[in-house]
Amino acid sequence: MEQNAIIEAQNLTKVYEDGLCALDHVSFGVKAGEIFCLLGDNGAGKTTAINLFLGFLDPTEGVATINGIDVKKDPLEAKRFVAYLSDIVMLYPNFSARQNLDFFARLGGKQNLTRDDYYSVLRQVGLQEKAFEQKLKGFSKGMKLKGFSKGMRQKVGLAIAIIKDAPAIILDEPTSGLDPKAANEFLAILHQLRAQGRAILMSTHDIFRAKEVADIVGIMAEGKILATKSRSELEHENLERLYLSYIHGKAAA
Ligand SMILES: Nc1ncnc2c1ncn2[C@@H]1O[C@H](COP(=O)(O)OP(=O)(O)O)[C@@H](O)[C@H]1O
Ligand SMILES: [Mg+2]
Repeated sequence: MEQNAIIEAQNLTKVYEDGLCALDHVSFGVKAGEIFCLLGDNGAGKTTAINLFLGFLDPTEGVATINGIDVKKDPLEAKRFVAYLSDIVMLYPNFSARQNLDFFARLGGKQNLTRDDYYSVLRQVGLQEKAFEQKLKGFSKGMKLKGFSKGMRQKVGLAIAIIKDAPAIILDEPTSGLDPKAANEFLAILHQLRAQGRAILMSTHDIFRAKEVADIVGIMAEGKILATKSRSELEHENLERLYLSYIHGKAAA
């Protein structure tokens, strides 16, 4: 398929043990400096596709590659080139934002980072300075215990992904559960990462977010990509109508 795709699926297929075909011969590529958005309702197969790229699942058929490396054949090597953010970030509540970042950076093999490096990434994701050294579970001040909001946690999660400095970033429903302001901020940061030349694959069930953030939208239903639309194509088409027509088989006209 595409020669220089950093993230690439070729006929990627997953049949679960119960016989359900959750992903059915899906092919696409994400190049450096591109955001590819898998758009589909719950159950469409987005998470299955993403989990195949991360080596959490083995494909039944087809190939997932990261930076040209077959994830199934060489999972550890492939993982070096991809950073991942799920919809529920696992972070340590007793650690501060900076300590979480430090912990996961070391876990990922980055040993020489300084406090300033961590602060600079936390600034990049737009976390407020006063939260850098605050425990995620919150701290009691008088009567109140105020912990990190979902938006703040997603920012720390994104900071962890950024600090890995991987050419590929994969995000599963990263804006679900965020309020509109937090989601907007989050997508603006994805645009910065795109400008740095990262290849970004994300999933969402939100048409409006997909249209806002993506260079290419892959419309998914029942394990298939039914249509792939570029940003310029979407300027001339009503994505919502298109989506519904594909998902529900209604006429697009
Ligand atoms: N471990 C599993 N075993 C069997 N079926 C699964 C498993 N995980 C997901 N599925 C099914 O695969 C389909 C696709 O799920 P998923 O990839 O999670 O979709 P999405 O992320 O788009 O909501 C759904 O029908 C789901 O129930
Ligand atoms: Mg999912």
